[in-house]
Amino acid sequence: MRIEPRDASAHRAKAEAALQGELPFGRVFTPHMVIASWDREHGWHDGKTVLREPLKIDPAAMALHYGQETFEGLKAHKQDGGRIIAFRLQAHAERMQRSCERLCIPPMPVADFISACEAIIATEKDWVPSREGASLYLRPTVIATEAALGVRPAESYLFFVLATATGPYFAKGFSGIRVKVEREMVRAAPGGLGSAKTGANYVASMLSAVRAKKEGCDQVLWLDALEHRYIEETGASNVFWVEKGVLYTPPTSETILRGITRDSILQLAPALGIQVQERRISLDELVAGIHSGAVTEMFGSGTAAVVSPISEVMVDGHIVEIGGGKPGSISRRIHDEIVAIHRGRAEDRFGWCHPIPC
Ligand SMILES: Cc1ncc(COP(=O)(O)O)c(C=O)c1O
Repeated sequence: MRIEPRDASAHRAKAEAALQGELPFGRVFTPHMVIASWDREHGWHDGKTVLREPLKIDPAAMALHYGQETFEGLKAHKQDGGRIIAFRLQAHAERMQRSCERLCIPPMPVADFISACEAIIATEKDWVPSREGASLYLRPTVIATEAALGVRPAESYLFFVLATATGPYFAKGFSGIRVKVEREMVRAAPGGLGSAKTGANYVASMLSAVRAKKEGCDQVLWLDALEHRYIEETGASNVFWVEKGVLYTPPTSETILRGITRDSILQLAPALGIQVQERRISLDELVAGIHSGAVTEMFGSGTAAVVSPISEVMVDGHIVEIGGGKPGSISRRIHDEIVAIHRGRAEDRFGWCHPIPC
C-alpha cells in the first residue's frame, strides 16, 4: 500500500519546514492518507495510499446521520538511533475490531489494519518529528458510506488513516490539571457505547467539558451513570490514583474505554516495583483519602499525554488539592519510563514497539 511521493525531495522539504513549527495537536496533517473500502461482495478491499483530499461522500451517508463510525488514535515515534516505531500497533488494531463489532461495522482484519498504518508511516517517514516529546499521531477511522436513511447497519464503508505531526504534550513542563466532578451529565451508560471508540461518546462529553472550562477547570471527572458515585474516567483518559503508595485504577466495564496506555501501565508498574491494582472508588472515598493524606497522586492516562497529572479536583465548586498541587513521583516515573520506551532509551521488555520498515 506504500507509495513513494512523486517528488521525494519536495516532499521532504515540505516536511522539514512543517516540523520546525509549533505542531499543535491534530492540525498539521501530512500530504497522504491510506484508504480502503468495504462492500458485501468484496469485503475489505482496494487498500491504497493516496493524496489527502476532501472525501466525496453522499449527504445521505449513514455515518453522517446515525453516527455509524469508529476510530483509533496511536503514535509513531522516531527513536534516538533513527528507527521509526509504532507504539502498541497490534493492541490498537484489536481495539478497533471490538469497536467495529459494537457498531455493527465489518471489522477490518488485524493484519490489514497493521499494514495500513505501516504504509502511511513509511510514506510519511519524513513527517515523524524527532523533537523531544513529539510524534506522528495516526487517526485510523471507519465510516458508513451507504446513502440510505433507514436505521440499520450500512452496506458500504470507507476506512482511512490520517497522520498528523504532533508536538510535545507538556510543552511547558510536566504539570497538573484541575478536573471538575460532573454530577449531572454522564459520558456513558451500562449497555451503551462507552467501551467503543466512536464519535457519539465524544459529542456526549462536550457540553460538560465546555461548562467545566467556563468554571476554570481543564477537564471533567466522570462518575458512573447509575449512582453518580464512582469515579470512571477523566476527559478522554483513564484515571489512576496513588493511595498509601499503591497505584489503583477502576476496572474497565461497558462504560470505561479499555485504554491502551492504561494497559501499558498495568503491565509496566510491577516491573518498576510499583504495586498496582484495579478497584472502584467512590467520589466520597477519594475526597476523604485526599483530605487524610492517604491519596497522594492522581493522573489521567492516554495516548496523547501518556500520563497527565491531576493536581486539583473541583467538587461542587470547592477545590480539593492533591499532593501539594505538584505531580507525584509515581506519575512522573511511569510517564518517563513509557516515553523512554518510545524513544528506544529503555528496554522494550513487553514488545510494544513495532518497527516500521521504511
Ligand atoms: C474515553 C477515553 N478513555 C481513555 C482513553 C485512553 O486510551 P488510550 O490509552 O488507548 O489512548 C481515550 C483515548 O483514546 C479515550 O478517548
